Amino acid sequence: MEVDRETIDEEESMESVKTRPRRLLEDETVRLTRSGIRLSDFDVRGTLGTGTFGKVLLVRHRDSQPGTQNFYAMKVLRKTDIVRLRQVEHVNAERFILSRVHHPFVVDLFATFQDSLNVYMLMSYVPGGELFTHLRRAKRFTPDVTRFYLATIILALKYLHSFNIIYRDLKPENLLLDSRGYLRLTDFGFAKIVDDRTWTLCGTPEYLAPEIIQSDGHGKAADWWACGVLCYEMLVGYPPFFDETPYGIYEKILTGHIHWPRNIDRLSKDLIRAFLNPDRSKRLGNMIGGPQDVLDHPWFRGVDWDALERREINAPIIPRTSSIEDTRHFLHLPLPPADEIPGLTGEGRNSTFEQQFDPISYQFLEF
Ligand SMILES: Nc1ncnc2c1ncn2[C@@H]1O[C@H](COP(=O)(O)OP(=O)(O)O)[C@@H](O)[C@H]1O
Ligand SMILES: [Mg+2]
Repeated sequence: MEVDRETIDEEESMESVKTRPRRLLEDETVRLTRSGIRLSDFDVRGTLGTGTFGKVLLVRHRDSQPGTQNFYAMKVLRKTDIVRLRQVEHVNAERFILSRVHHPFVVDLFATFQDSLNVYMLMSYVPGGELFTHLRRAKRFTPDVTRFYLATIILALKYLHSFNIIYRDLKPENLLLDSRGYLRLTDFGFAKIVDDRTWTLCGTPEYLAPEIIQSDGHGKAADWWACGVLCYEMLVGYPPFFDETPYGIYEKILTGHIHWPRNIDRLSKDLIRAFLNPDRSKRLGNMIGGPQDVLDHPWFRGVDWDALERREINAPIIPRTSSIEDTRHFLHLPLPPADEIPGLTGEGRNSTFEQQFDPISYQFLEF
């Protein structure tokens, strides 16, 4: 379950000093590598996921060369919903950020489109399913398995944070296994470039840092908090703060009491506690040493970070897929009705549909 309520105007003046990013995202080249393709070049093959704001479809490029990848994941967001749910800025930030970042543990964005109904983001299809599915199936992961996944996420966050990008929606549903069993971070719907702090309440209740709940202004530290929640959830099988209602969850997060099952070892507790420090200035990842402190934590002893980033380590779970089109690792959701995606299914194609007058297209200029 996701909440997203705009609270305070994000562009409010900020009291504390802005931190300059190590590198500027504006300087990165836009890496939309598949040029000259159109929405009407694709057939819809299945539904991979549905979220709060849209859906993700498995699509096939009809006349691609043999031997080239022709399956993609296409995120489809209905423009009127984006506007109604006040997500215009978030969707544009998702497109802006994903088209410029490039990392082995982040999903690749190839192209974006819009027509009068929807905006579309064409991504690499990550066939192994959500880490969520694999975790629920296994009930919990051993520390070694957890370390592999967490280490890749730490590298992805370190990379994103170097641009002052905060991700803000870390959770096993947004982590996908690729064919080699490596994670790919997807869903940049809440990602934002923040030089200091921002005040939008967004994310998923179980993963929210106390400062987000308290509307205290949040930044990169909130991602490190979420790492603590993720680490606990992988080792234990459920998140550290849970309740039937978001309100109950928030209460538990603010109280800060963590129940430790007996099987969890001392060093793992130490790491999780270091991430789940309510005091941001003492939270692992957010102190003077930055992300390097995380890499140097004894829990990660023995991890060859460079080899990991070069994807030279064997992953713990290799998802089985019979063909490139195999969707067994995803929920089997029905295809969306054709009239929701006419530009992908027929009537809308080759017609004037794509050029139809659209009073809100100006809100999505980059697409
Ligand atoms: N590139 C991808 N390959 C395969 N499945 C994907 C991909 N991107 C997203 N999905 C699936 O679709 C779901 C919803 O996509 P997401 O971007 O997280 O949307 P939302 O913002 O609605 O949560 C994901 O949780 C995942 O299961
Ligand atoms: Mg998501």
